[in-house]
Amino acid sequence: MTRAGLAADWHRTTMAHLCSAYPFHADSGFGDRGALLGANITAGVGAFYFDPFEFYTERHLTNPNMIVMGSVGFGKSATVKALIRRLRAVYGDRRYLAIIDPKGEYSPVAADLGLSVVKLYPGGPHRINPMDATDDDSDDSVIARQSLATQLVAVVLGRELSPLEDAVLGWAVERRCRNGAPFTLADLCAEIADPADELVRMSRHTQLELARATSPVTFALDKICRRTLRGMFDSTTTVNVDWEHGPGVVIDLSAVYGKRDALPLVMIAATHWLSAALRGHPHRQSIQVVDEAWAAIRHGASYFQSSLKLSRAHGVATVLVCHRPADLTAQADDGTAAAKIAAGLLSDIQTRVLLRQPPEQIADAATMFDLSDRERQWLGQLVPGRAIWRIGSRSAVVQAMLTPNERRLFDTDQAMVDQRERV
Ligand SMILES: Nc1ncnc2c1ncn2[C@@H]1O[C@H](COP(=O)(O)OP(=O)(O)OP(=O)(O)O)[C@@H](O)[C@H]1O
Ligand SMILES: [Mg+2]
Repeated sequence: MTRAGLAADWHRTTMAHLCSAYPFHADSGFGDRGALLGANITAGVGAFYFDPFEFYTERHLTNPNMIVMGSVGFGKSATVKALIRRLRAVYGDRRYLAIIDPKGEYSPVAADLGLSVVKLYPGGPHRINPMDATDDDSDDSVIARQSLATQLVAVVLGRELSPLEDAVLGWAVERRCRNGAPFTLADLCAEIADPADELVRMSRHTQLELARATSPVTFALDKICRRTLRGMFDSTTTVNVDWEHGPGVVIDLSAVYGKRDALPLVMIAATHWLSAALRGHPHRQSIQVVDEAWAAIRHGASYFQSSLKLSRAHGVATVLVCHRPADLTAQADDGTAAAKIAAGLLSDIQTRVLLRQPPEQIADAATMFDLSDRERQWLGQLVPGRAIWRIGSRSAVVQAMLTPNERRLFDTDQAMVDQRERV
């Protein structure tokens, strides 16, 4: 369904005048709760403030999650960096900042805000155990770890798990969780390779039959521990983050950014670990940013959907940064499945920030986000930092405005220029 745009005779005016001339057409804005991000072009170039938790409280939204989508270089990361930097300025310790940084570009912002940076690379000093329990160790924590293990194995196998594989992996995780002692992915692999009598009984197979039927899972976990995630996610956590009083943390994954096989697994494992830690501290409202989230979502939109649902209940607002509509649906076999996957994920993301798209993506974006004809036209013409913000059922065109200091801190072009000069 498309909506008709504002029909007005052609004349030259400013947005501020247009607001008074057509008061029932121009938007009234969203109020002044949150951090000042820039100008609301469709509300008379008035100030635009945003904070997912304030907007949730004001009932503009029924969930605090965001997606930021746009072409390369049109200001996705800069918009997010401006938002978190200013939320920190307005709310201080009342907003904990947690960032998955696949390109290693948040270090200047981290230094500016005093966030700790954990750089993960094989054989480096930091290890993260994605099987860590959250503080509460509830059923949710068990289910989250079961979904993670299933998702990691499914990515390695390149297919869904069979019902038996899924059940055995789920039982193995549950057994280890109920046992109470910390465990790692390597322990899980051992548990399935040599299943306990209890697991064999539950499977209604003989020991040998079960070992044969679940060998793909064992091989996948073995590959994850010995190769893909080796030296980063295969042992107990060595990172010490101050979740209670610190301002936040950046997980720098730039060492694996160029590795196509490893990147989705690394991002899924790191995001899971971070979400679980944030859920363990629900008294702090947290903003969790997953930049370049497309790399992980392409391999598991439904996993991300369940993770968003879980996090929302624990005071975590997740911000996913993607390039194009197809990032949400890449794993689907056909158009119908794709539409379902995207609709499922987007149902838990009510703030959609759409930066410029190339011509060939506009039709898909218009369908996915139910854009009006006017918005469809804008989407192909937006300048860097300007975006269509869909907030619940309302819409605005917002220009994120950067201070000179922020331009310097957020500059991702300089590296390109430097490289060109060196060449
Ligand atoms: N609102 C803005 N005002 C001025 N400059 C901006 C604005 N937004 C982004 N830029 C500049 O544009 C450049 C690219 O921005 P950014 O890195 O945020 O793009 P991106 O969409 O995240 O790109 P990529 O897809 O490569 O990650 C940066 O150098 C940044 O400083
Ligand atoms: Mg970026």
